[in-house]
Amino acid sequence: MATLICGSLAYDNIMTFEGHFREHILPDQIHILNVSFLVPSMHREFGGCAGNIAYGLKLLGSDPLIMATVGAIDAQNYLDRLDSLSIRRECVRVLPDTHTAQAMITTDQENNQITVFHPGAMLLSHLNHISDAQNVTLGIVAPDSAQGMYEHAKQFAQANIPFMFDPSQGLPILDCAQLCQIIELATYVSVNAFEAKLLSKKTGWSITDIAQRVDAMIITRGAQGAVIYHCDSVETIPVVPAERIVEPTGCGDAFRSGLLYGIEKGLDWSTTGRLASLMGSIKIAYQGPQTYTLNRTEIIDRFEAAFDYRIA
Ligand SMILES: Nc1ncnc2c1ncn2[C@@H]1O[C@H](COP(=O)(O)OP(=O)(O)OP(=O)(O)O)[C@@H](O)[C@H]1O
Ligand SMILES: [Mg+2]
Repeated sequence: MATLICGSLAYDNIMTFEGHFREHILPDQIHILNVSFLVPSMHREFGGCAGNIAYGLKLLGSDPLIMATVGAIDAQNYLDRLDSLSIRRECVRVLPDTHTAQAMITTDQENNQITVFHPGAMLLSHLNHISDAQNVTLGIVAPDSAQGMYEHAKQFAQANIPFMFDPSQGLPILDCAQLCQIIELATYVSVNAFEAKLLSKKTGWSITDIAQRVDAMIITRGAQGAVIYHCDSVETIPVVPAERIVEPTGCGDAFRSGLLYGIEKGLDWSTTGRLASLMGSIKIAYQGPQTYTLNRTEIIDRFEAAFDYRIA
């Protein structure tokens, strides 16, 4: 029994500019914008939503199966890492003469960010089919190519596999008709507060309209925690105070690994949301989306310390 994680595998190249972007961009000259920033610090992280979500779910002791496309030019490092973590990758397709997706993220001293994302092999994620995976009982459609997200959602529904729709950064590339159709097919929708507003605007449906079309709609609110709409009621999920705040990239994905774990195990929404919230809070104490290393017992101990009861 596996949970199928459809989405991107990507390298995140994170650079810090030791100045302020605004001092180098002249507002009256933006029609001839030509800027170059010297970034002395750079590090490369394993990222991409599918990789991040599968990583969290594996730490929790589940059996995630990744469905993604990567490029042969630079994928080997990532494939070796998945093997070393024992995360199954039989549905990761390696495309020849192509780069793996990568984000170049430059942050300045005021936390402003300029990001360039090269999708590379991710653009062909629709080459994978849900039916390629065996013994799947739950799935997630996380950010991927537009065609990949759309087709995988339809294939999950055709196969009668409940799935979560997590459009995140992929929200702008889906049009109104696609979004409405995917929501109608999905069992769960999970977005952050900004994405919830955008999803509402693009579909013309209110949050309640969307929530009524799924079993649960989960909206994360950063340091304010989350809310879960389920069966005409709204559950507020508290934030778990972070050990330290280092870097937020991947908090949303860590949160989703907790959601999927709770759904897999049939936990109630209150507990599922709290576990998800704990995962987001654990992640924020580390640089990079997949560098937190707590094992299952440590996570369960932290849960008990935060909420005064234990999960199985
Ligand atoms: N400062 C924080 N302290 C503790 N937990 C946090 C903090 N920020 C985020 N979290 C946890 O992570 C969850 C997801 O965060 P958020 O709503 O920022 O997602 P996001 O915007 O999708 O993030 P990203 O896409 O950058 O990973 C929150 O609901 C919360 O549980
Ligand atoms: Mg997010």
